[in-house]
Amino acid sequence: MSWHLLCHIDEIPLDGSVGIKLAEQSKDYGFVVKKYDGIFAWRNACPHLGYQGTSMAWKRNQYLNGDKQYIMCAAHGARFEIRTGEGVTSPCQGMYLKPIALKTDDHGNVHWLNDQE
Ligand code: FES
Repeated sequence: MSWHLLCHIDEIPLDGSVGIKLAEQSKDYGFVVKKYDGIFAWRNACPHLGYQGTSMAWKRNQYLNGDKQYIMCAAHGARFEIRTGEGVTSPCQGMYLKPIALKTDDHGNVHWLNDQE
């Protein structure tokens, strides 16, 4: 397990998302969403089809639906609560995204924990 610098918190747009990328991979490892009073991070792995498959992003850094109220998987359109990662529509209703731990340092830099290492 190790912590990685993502970006400064001001670089994450309010009501927006930013992909978390590992240098050697083309698909985002995960993504962060700035919404409400915080930032939330999830693996780019949809529970539909057993957390396998293509990226959940609509396009680069775009993981939310049109009105920015939910995370929305680009593959089959499942929506997820931003705070909890709970699936709220088919085909993922009642299933959960996998969380990524975050911390923000004294300078406002956001770090994420890769627990796959
Ligand atoms: S892979 Fe996400 S809804 Fe099907």
